[in-house]
Amino acid sequence: MKPFLSKPYYESFQSFVLPFSQLVIEKRKQGEDFLLYNAPVAMFFHTSPYADPLDSTIAATYAMIAAEAMGLGTCMIGSVAPLLQYSKRLKNKYVIPQENKLGVMLIMGYPDVSFQRAVRRRFAAVSYN
Ligand SMILES: Cc1cc2nc3c(=O)[nH]c(=O)nc-3n(C[C@H](O)[C@H](O)[C@H](O)COP(=O)(O)O)c2cc1C
Repeated sequence: MKPFLSKPYYESFQSFVLPFSQLVIEKRKQGEDFLLYNAPVAMFFHTSPYADPLDSTIAATYAMIAAEAMGLGTCMIGSVAPLLQYSKRLKNKYVIPQENKLGVMLIMGYPDVSFQRAVRRRFAAVSYN
């Protein structure tokens, strides 16, 4: 198929989509949900092709904050979009219009563990002009 595909399409398919899909399938056979960690809820955010590319990420972030405020644990999953991107069948299955821009998935559920404190993070650099 290589002669028919664009370079970025071919390279991302070859280096990520294909091996990652195979890993997810292999792990599933062993009873492990490597993609969504057996989360009871998974929400996928996508937008019209006319929307700003960041819109779905903003919506997902608000959903994450709302879920955390309700005491749920959450995790954004970026690896779903590249898998969906190449599958018309999966998009149809999950009622995602083919032309839509794909964003992130947000998984949530009641946490098994509660942490005493979170990892403290800082911006790598801030510059003022
Ligand atoms: C946009 C985005 C996409 C992510 N995609 C994935 C993913 O596909 N799989 C995964 O296990 N974690 C994913 N994460 C979670 C990160 O790996 C990481 O766990 C999270 O940012 C919290 O970091 P910390 O656990 O080190 O505090 C994603 C996070 C973000 C912000």
